[in-house]
Amino acid sequence: MTTRILTGITTTGTPHLGNYAGAIRPAIVASRAADADSFYFLADYHALIKCDEPARIQRSRLEIAATWLALGLDTDKATFYRQSDIPEIPELCWLLTCVVGKGLLNRAHAYKASVDKNVEAGEDPDAGITMGLFSYPVLMAADILMFNAHKVPVGRDQIQHVEMARDIAQRFNHLFGQGKELFTLPEAVIEEDVATLPGLDGRKMSKSYDNTIPLFGSAKQLKDAVARIVTDSKLPGEPKDPDNSHLFTLYQAFAAPTQQADFRAALEGGIAWGEAKQALVSLLEAELGEARERYHALIAKPADLEDILLAGAAKARKIATPFLGELREAVGLRSFREQVQVTSSEKKKSAKGARFVSFRDEDGRFRFRLLDADGEQLLLSKAFADGKAAGQVSKRLQSDELDVRPEGAGFSLWLDDEEVASSPAFADDTQRDQAIARLYEALTVQ
Ligand code: TRP
Repeated sequence: MTTRILTGITTTGTPHLGNYAGAIRPAIVASRAADADSFYFLADYHALIKCDEPARIQRSRLEIAATWLALGLDTDKATFYRQSDIPEIPELCWLLTCVVGKGLLNRAHAYKASVDKNVEAGEDPDAGITMGLFSYPVLMAADILMFNAHKVPVGRDQIQHVEMARDIAQRFNHLFGQGKELFTLPEAVIEEDVATLPGLDGRKMSKSYDNTIPLFGSAKQLKDAVARIVTDSKLPGEPKDPDNSHLFTLYQAFAAPTQQADFRAALEGGIAWGEAKQALVSLLEAELGEARERYHALIAKPADLEDILLAGAAKARKIATPFLGELREAVGLRSFREQVQVTSSEKKKSAKGARFVSFRDEDGRFRFRLLDADGEQLLLSKAFADGKAAGQVSKRLQSDELDVRPEGAGFSLWLDDEEVASSPAFADDTQRDQAIARLYEALTVQ
């Protein structure tokens, strides 16, 4: 059993060392596990909520895509795409919007924080708050549920959103699943042992504190940033306390255990801060130097990046397109062609309520199900190359004589000596025979 891992990266900034250690590096490592099926995407629709500068959005998408690829994400194994290349996501977002209580969204932290700020400032509570911000958790739920992710690695501030996605999935399953789990219930994963890096001033490294070390800046930019790391004023020769030095914490995040021990000893032995900073620069160069070259090569060829991301989107849509088809069926957005069949069989059989449901499977082929009046599945058809062939078969089942062949606790249905559909396995022969009776009732013309 593979575990589907999915996470999104909002494309509003340029990745820094803290993003690398806290999110990108662990995600790429996780994507290499044999049983992992990873979906990583650029959450560029989410970026529009926070940013109305087109140039910045575009730049950030490019930089983040190049960063993940330069750091070794294998796009043959993982599925890597832009949210905005998957039109099924906003469509699913609407289906979900129609079942989410407004009250649930009122309780979202990000929205509440904005309201509180307005109230404090004596403004209208909703001043400056867009529907994008308010509905942010629904779009995120669509990202997650579209691909039936099991695990969603996120920062602590996002746990509530994953829990909301779970609530929304449950509600949707209950309303439209007819006893079946349409959506997998996702779980947030918080990596406890992942480094939260301190920034230059010792507070958490974050763009909003302006204390970051650039990930793929030039060698000089790296050096300059490290030079700005705040230390105490101990002189060369005076022993330094590694456990009270965020320079040491930064070093630790990228060093092997023996390097860590050596550096600790050097600090305790009185190495000058300048020299200690040089050691950190060398360590970071060793960790990131090659990737930085790959990064700049990628950035220089945006058309190639475009191709890679479009291939990722095509891979993702192979799942999203048929699944959204099923969801549209589930909520009642069904083809009128099927509707005609339902009405005609209802007429013949005085509204028995059995119905055909056609859909496209994961490979894009056409199939149909026959559900009885209670929504229980009686038949699943074989796969047809086109919708017309599937439609013809379902029509003939309603007019031709039925050739039903019991097989174990289930049965199959044949036309022209070819098997065209089969039932699920029932609990025992009696249940099977009752299902066959319901099948006749649903299909036979009297
Ligand atoms: N909201 C997330 C963040 O700001 C990004 C994101 C968007 C996301 N969609 C997602 C994360 C789906 C996980 C799953 O960090």
